[in-house]
Amino acid sequence: MAAMTEPAAPWALLAELTHACPLHCPYCSNPLELVRRGTELAADEWARVFAEAADLGIVQAHISGGEPLLRPDLEEIVAAAHHAGVYTQLVTSGVGLTADRLDALAGAGIDSVQLSVQDADQANSDLIAGRASYAAKERAAGVIRDAGLPFGLNVVLHRHNLDRLPEIIAMGERWGADRIELANAQFYGWALRNRDVLLPTRDQLESAKETVAAHRAASRGPELVWVLPDYYEGVPKPCMGGWGARSITVAPDGTALPCPAASAMTDLRPPNVRDHPLSWIWRSSDAFNAYRGTAWMSGPCGECPRRETDFGGCRCQAYALTGDASRTDPACALSPDHHLVRDRAALAGTADGAAPGFVYRRPANARG
Ligand code: SF4
Ligand code: FES
Repeated sequence: MAAMTEPAAPWALLAELTHACPLHCPYCSNPLELVRRGTELAADEWARVFAEAADLGIVQAHISGGEPLLRPDLEEIVAAAHHAGVYTQLVTSGVGLTADRLDALAGAGIDSVQLSVQDADQANSDLIAGRASYAAKERAAGVIRDAGLPFGLNVVLHRHNLDRLPEIIAMGERWGADRIELANAQFYGWALRNRDVLLPTRDQLESAKETVAAHRAASRGPELVWVLPDYYEGVPKPCMGGWGARSITVAPDGTALPCPAASAMTDLRPPNVRDHPLSWIWRSSDAFNAYRGTAWMSGPCGECPRRETDFGGCRCQAYALTGDASRTDPACALSPDHHLVRDRAALAGTADGAAPGFVYRRPANARG
């Protein structure tokens, strides 16, 4: 299938170097079927990807995983991205981030660091991560701050940490973050598997929004980024800024995807950077053209005035909940499938528990 018109250039590349990770978060954005280490792209293959990305117009690469620090050749890979002229952000759990390693990475050209943390409460942070890790993250924050690199903190929000949002923001201030991304859990993959224990209540979200608004109004401390929770809004998020509109994800084995969660779509047939140049993948592959623009839309989206604003919502959510990625995102109140979201949201909090039964991200839990 060819694109109707030449797509605008992408601006970001999500480079998933490995799916190996010391943590086991129950909302991990990696797919249920994790890529095996033996099939990972080598450093010289990543160097080619970054060079092609820069030629295509990409200006920013998120060097991610899994945990990218587990790649012993991470410095070589970062240096290749830097050499290609791409701004690089290290996305890390912080486990294993020593001052020496960050010094080497800064020398290779890393431009900024995003550190994830699970909660401001140490015991709960460790429970959510599936292992003791909070103390390592606190140390990593000090290392990043001392290195003077731009420092973003990422916290996935859900039922089991939202009530501590004021403490989470205070932790970000204390740790010296420039920016805190408050990423309300998005329910595909592992998070969908854990939806009943992760889904927040409407009251929790309303209170959290007030906390964010109060901090913004006081305009002090780190910048707060609020990633929309869409189960209660009735309007979907403009996921990925539109399919094949802004960014490319390259999975550890070279699979190129319009979105990190899209590997779950069994009928997508995504191309691989080992077989095709990135420019062909972006402009001409079926996978990137499948839901680009608005011509693919049917149902309520086809006539909707918001179709150029939210692009019909999230294709992965439509696929995960209905089995058909071309349907209107069920998060939209106009979707004939909206009950799939509305009814589940109405149950939020009824599957309670001080010790939630998380299905942790482990290969053994991928099926079931
Ligand atoms: Fe967005 Fe489609 Fe819903 Fe309109 S009908 S608001 S375009 S998802
Ligand atoms: Fe894939 Fe929304 S997560 S399009």
